[in-house]
Amino acid sequence: MKKHIVLLPGDGIGKEVMQSAKEVLAAIGEEFHHSFSFETHDIGGAAVDQHGTPLPQQTVEACQKADAILLGAVGGPKWDQLPSHLRPERGLLGIRKALDLFANLRPIKGFDHLLHTSPLKEEVIKGSDLLIVRELTGGLYFGTPSERQNNGQSVVDTLYYSRKEIERIVEKAFQCAQQRRKLLTSVDKANVLESSKLWREVVEEKKQQYPKVKVEHLLVDAAAMKLITNPSQFDVIVTENMFGDILSDEASVLTGSLGMLPSASLREDGVGLFEPVHGSAPDIAGHGVANPIAMILSAALMLRHSFQLEDEARLIEETVESVLNAGFHTADLNLKIGHKVGTFEMTQLIIDSIKTRNTANCIMSCYA
Ligand code: IPM
Ligand code: MN
Repeated sequence: MKKHIVLLPGDGIGKEVMQSAKEVLAAIGEEFHHSFSFETHDIGGAAVDQHGTPLPQQTVEACQKADAILLGAVGGPKWDQLPSHLRPERGLLGIRKALDLFANLRPIKGFDHLLHTSPLKEEVIKGSDLLIVRELTGGLYFGTPSERQNNGQSVVDTLYYSRKEIERIVEKAFQCAQQRRKLLTSVDKANVLESSKLWREVVEEKKQQYPKVKVEHLLVDAAAMKLITNPSQFDVIVTENMFGDILSDEASVLTGSLGMLPSASLREDGVGLFEPVHGSAPDIAGHGVANPIAMILSAALMLRHSFQLEDEARLIEETVESVLNAGFHTADLNLKIGHKVGTFEMTQLIIDSIKTRNTANCIMSCYA
């Protein structure tokens, strides 16, 4: 298979972890005889520095032509004081919108070996395996007007959704639930918000087409509580943009580290942008200690969702798990036992294990 991938490393640790994902993909290409070509472009703060805008036109054009896109992270204190249209986050929001990447899939599944690193009790989080399906191109993030008014004395943000926008994300969530444990939890604030009432209506209509999927509705405040008191009750959660942003950071606590969570942002035709849920971590950028696993697992999601390469995706996921099971971890995991390694070593361990299909052998040779 021949595929052209645009890499948007962005800022901070985005650059380091992107290098890891690229090397892992090159190894997968060699092992399975695929030809992956790469083209790197600026986004976020790096693009502001180079081109005076967080989303240069050439970046958008390259992404439009690509088979898939990998993104590292954007943002950092260097650009915090810029006016809002120049903030690095605008680059990320802009590319999501420009490519119509409306469906954001955030799978959250703890690795058994790491459950004890979560601040939550192991018996509470054990067995949790959920997927947050977040609407990504509508709601408060994009509604207009969004501005200061009355000489700065008041302010407005607009929560707008069309029925069509709700229908397509709810449809996607039903499809995901159908392929998993067939439980869909729709999260809203229908006791207050008009947009949530329409959201609920659409979910109720759609469920007729998916008789095997059990549907429940949950208010977002209750969902926030249940996510950390009884996470294993969830299978697929579908929700609007802002609620999904907040709940997915909360859910990351179930896995021990935000450094482990990948995400896929998909368009209707399957083209996608794949990025870690974590940010640019400017405090540790450039030190070679960042955890590359979320980025590497995002590359696995790309293989699965954009290229239908299930075996290749699974090999990456299983290899990551076996390297963790062998006791290797990066500093973010806060483990007292095992071997602490940096970004480069972690990447190399994963690549060697992919090539030999044998983590134990590769570790013995590394430590011989
Ligand atoms: C995320 C991030 C972004 C978001 C920011 C950086 C704009 O927090 O991907 O979850 O809010 O969507
Ligand atoms: Mn977020």
